[in-house]
Amino acid sequence: MIEVSREVPAEIVDVYREAFGASPYFEGEREVARFAEEALPGHARRDGFRCVVAREDGLVVGFAYGYTSAPGQWWHDWVRSLLDAAQVEVWMSDAFELVELAVRPAAQGRGHGARLHDAVLADRPHRTALLTTRDEDTPARRLYRRRGWVPLREGWRPSARQPPLVFMGLRLPLQPEIPPPSRPGSAAEGPAGHMRAVDSYSR
Ligand SMILES: CC(C)(COP(=O)(O)OP(=O)(O)OC[C@H]1O[C@@H](n2cnc3c(N)ncnc32)[C@H](O)[C@@H]1OP(=O)(O)O)[C@@H](O)C(=O)NCCC(=O)NCCS
Repeated sequence: MIEVSREVPAEIVDVYREAFGASPYFEGEREVARFAEEALPGHARRDGFRCVVAREDGLVVGFAYGYTSAPGQWWHDWVRSLLDAAQVEVWMSDAFELVELAVRPAAQGRGHGARLHDAVLADRPHRTALLTTRDEDTPARRLYRRRGWVPLREGWRPSARQPPLVFMGLRLPLQPEIPPPSRPGSAAEGPAGHMRAVDSYSR
């Protein structure tokens, strides 16, 4: 079991509420409650669980987590049914599932997302990482593309009413990023005293 202080999960849920309450997700309190009461506590008990948080002035402004993807897990079995046998062999036999990555809207665009992404995947013992995201030009999709993720299956709709999804894979270990050019006034320019390295919780 991971030991995380009570405050951290509450702040993580708050980040989730803000990040996924915004466009294009517009999730409401029902989805937030599902995340807080079912998804996060259940996932935290899985093998290989790692959660990292980013802070500004002590406040949790972002988080990312994942765990070892394994047969018998709903998501793993679902993705396995959507890929072909060769893809399953290459991508799913020793994989870390990146489940969530989120940053409060007010703290976005300052590199937290990229740092969280790299921290949650750093030193993972797995051969690959996997995720699902919307198959749209979102900040998340751009970040994953920049960090080397490749689409395994695109444009897949769970139902006619739902937006298309893309399943993506990344070979580990993670390669170092080529830093983006800094803009005037951006955090990359000077010392970011109010930012803190990500905190990590693993089991
Ligand atoms: C995806 C998400 C986590 C990214 O978080 P973030 O902290 O804004 O990520 P970054 O700051 O690393 O990158 C965002 C943008 O800022 C730019 N950026 C980062 N640091 C910068 C800097 N110092 N100077 C200038 N630009 C910078 C990046 O290049 C990127 O640009 P792009 O979107 O045009 O490609 C955030 O948008 C989010 O929470 N979205 C909602 C939840 C979500 O979609 N999660 C993923 C579900 S699969």
